[in-house]
Amino acid sequence: GLPARVRIHEVGARDGLQNEQATVPTEVKAEFVRRLAAAGLTTIEATSFVHPKWVPQLADAERLYPMVAGLDGVRLPVLVPNERGLDRALALGARRVAIFASATESFARANLNRTVDEALAMFEPVVARAKAADGHVRGYLSMCFGDPWEGAVPVHQVVRVCRTLVDMGCDELSLGDTIGVATPGHVTALLGALGAVGIAPEVLGVHFHDTYGQALANTFAALQCGVTTVDASAGGLGGCPYARSATGNLATEDLVWMLQGLGIDTGIDLARLVATSAWMAEQLGRPSPSRTVRALFPA
Ligand code: HMG
Ligand code: MG
Repeated sequence: GLPARVRIHEVGARDGLQNEQATVPTEVKAEFVRRLAAAGLTTIEATSFVHPKWVPQLADAERLYPMVAGLDGVRLPVLVPNERGLDRALALGARRVAIFASATESFARANLNRTVDEALAMFEPVVARAKAADGHVRGYLSMCFGDPWEGAVPVHQVVRVCRTLVDMGCDELSLGDTIGVATPGHVTALLGALGAVGIAPEVLGVHFHDTYGQALANTFAALQCGVTTVDASAGGLGGCPYARSATGNLATEDLVWMLQGLGIDTGIDLARLVATSAWMAEQLGRPSPSRTVRALFPA
């Protein structure tokens, strides 16, 4: 069966904007987050406290976070790769953090300058200290299905890192299809394998990129397995639709359209969300790649 309610974890301001060529002014980012909240999103990933040279698009995290921190009833998780990132987040009062591990060696090297296990060792004190500060920790896992250098990723390899992240104290995991190559049968197989080692769908979120147009089908497969947390990016932000290799996350509007049709409650005002993404597309100077945005807000 399908769940009665789904929680959307909005990643447009972080996963979306970290991949945009244009540098978006901090004021515009803050306005984007405010409009997302006004459209009914309650979990809005705000930014990352990573090395500014690695992700210059989010180098303004110190300025942005306080501008949006007061929003009523909104959770504003932030990414932290290491203790330095956690220090920066804690100093601003952030208590919801996300670490981000890799299921493959190639991406661990490319994204974190570490091996898979070195990266896990780097996260251990981050998780422990965040929990000690009464925080909530999300553990992302990238390349859960395929990797650009290594090809298809074996399910057991993903399960091993998930187990480590849960044992480390992560409150929830997010299974990342970083390059959008997953298909629904693969999703069902991975969720089944996780269930077999005692990692229930209640602690799992799914994080699909839409490179091959499979994100909604993959989401539907995950919902049927009991997952109720779905990551999405308003307007399908992320990557450049004109660049071959990079596309954004599943668009939040496309997700909401499907969930509404299924009678699943999200608490989101779709018209308001579409208007927000159309506004953001204007700021970025290009149309939104979301089919639902284009259908409901023709340019
Ligand atoms: P490194 O070069 O190995 O860093 O990078 P280091 O630990 O050797 O430190 C070098 C210097 O950087 C030091 O300064 C540190 O203080 C400083 P120095 O002492 O030499 O003057 N430094 C920092 N400064 C500010 N903030 C920090 C920080 N950390 C170190 N947090 C590091 C290692 C992890 C820092 C780097 O690789 C990094 O920042 N990576 C982030 C990459 C990233 O943000 N990727 C995108 C997010 S993941 C994603 O998008 C996938 C996801 O969406 C799911 C999916 O789709 O699969 C989540
Ligand atoms: Mg992502």
